[in-house]
Amino acid sequence: MTGSFTEDLTRSLSVSPSLDLHDDLHGSAADPAVGSLSFLNEVMGRYPGAISFAPGAPHTSFYEDLDLTRCIDVCLGDLARRRGLDRKAAERLLFEYGPSRGIINGIVAEALDRDYRLGADPADVVITVGCQEAMFLTLRALFRGGGDTLAVVNPSFVGILGAARLLDIDVVPVSEGTTGIDLAQLQRLCDEARAERRRIRALYVAPDFANPSGTRMALETRRGLLELAHREGLVLLEDTAYGFTAEPGDGLPPLGAMDTAGSVVTLGTFAKVCLPGARVGYAVAGQRVTGRATGGTRRLADVLAEMKTMVTVNTSPIAQAVVGGLLLEHGGSIVRAGRAKAELYRRNLRLLTEALDRQVAGRVPQVTWNRPDGGFFVRLRLPVAVDMELLTYSAAEHGVLWTPMSTFYLDGSGDRELRLACSYLDPADIDEGVRRLADFLAVVAR
Ligand SMILES: Cc1ncc(COP(=O)(O)O)c(C=O)c1O
Repeated sequence: MTGSFTEDLTRSLSVSPSLDLHDDLHGSAADPAVGSLSFLNEVMGRYPGAISFAPGAPHTSFYEDLDLTRCIDVCLGDLARRRGLDRKAAERLLFEYGPSRGIINGIVAEALDRDYRLGADPADVVITVGCQEAMFLTLRALFRGGGDTLAVVNPSFVGILGAARLLDIDVVPVSEGTTGIDLAQLQRLCDEARAERRRIRALYVAPDFANPSGTRMALETRRGLLELAHREGLVLLEDTAYGFTAEPGDGLPPLGAMDTAGSVVTLGTFAKVCLPGARVGYAVAGQRVTGRATGGTRRLADVLAEMKTMVTVNTSPIAQAVVGGLLLEHGGSIVRAGRAKAELYRRNLRLLTEALDRQVAGRVPQVTWNRPDGGFFVRLRLPVAVDMELLTYSAAEHGVLWTPMSTFYLDGSGDRELRLACSYLDPADIDEGVRRLADFLAVVAR
């Protein structure tokens, strides 16, 4: 001790250790995929007057008549009935930690069956803190390390890339065309891995209006992928986030509903259909897991629920009740809960592509884009490199924000693409935003 106790204490508290981002922290701390969302939020915060095509966030008009108390009340009634509880006992479920697998599993399993004929048992379902946790837990459970690789459709949602990075899982890209994943390439990757005594353990794919590509997998490709997965012992991690945006009558069955071999783990979110602030998602994992020690059989969902006790313990029962009540108010259906929203998103997609046709096509013909039938996103191809520096220029000089696509790609191939999200904006903003975008493109894309 060199001074008085208080002086020493003050000195020791004011000295913070210096850590090197690369030498002292896990590799994911310096990973561009992991940091991309924070960086985008930071840029958006710096230019509050800019029109933002960046966030894939739901339109805020849907929160206006959302009565959270009523949703909770409806869900409590259902929980009491299902469990034979009186009202007070049902209410207590919301005050306590509760089971890690969730309390609205029955409502969710029935909704998935009603909407998609998924045929899931409530015991196959784990209610998670968003789809992000469902991805994280599933990856953690499936990947032992030592040569196990995750294949992802290139480009892919940054959440799966970041989760894999946090877990030190090797990731390999698989290309996609207009009808979905390149099955021949996936087969080649499986063959190569086997020859090197490794294995492609799982494939992450979003068959319906993927983020960020907007691609929808054709029925034939879905069949081919399930056959390949069965043959190769590959687990398919199916992200269903944007399936609800399909035109009524134009729905294709999710992989999980076509699966007869137990190859698919279905991952879902209520962020887009209900509200992101609830942070509720799910995994459906009915696969049987045999234990060598006990000789018993459990479901993969049981393993995920157990692991969850070491991550988030359980998903807020209050948030679950909001989502459960919202589904019940729409006949216990995800599709019905999302119908009005899906209409608005399809309208916005149409307005966005029409505005691009009107304002960009003739003026900057070097720039091209896709025309998805659903989802939240349109992808633009430019003749120049697209990076964070260009985004900052676009925000500062032209008042318009978007997302560079490079963070969604594993192999750098998207470095001339940007993503436009239309979900959050009103028609006038879409129009004005595209006018600004056209001015920006006219300067940079010549
Ligand atoms: C394809 C996809 N999956 C999952 C998520 C995240 O879901 P959650 O907010 O429930 O974690 C998103 C969010 O944008 C997404 O686009």
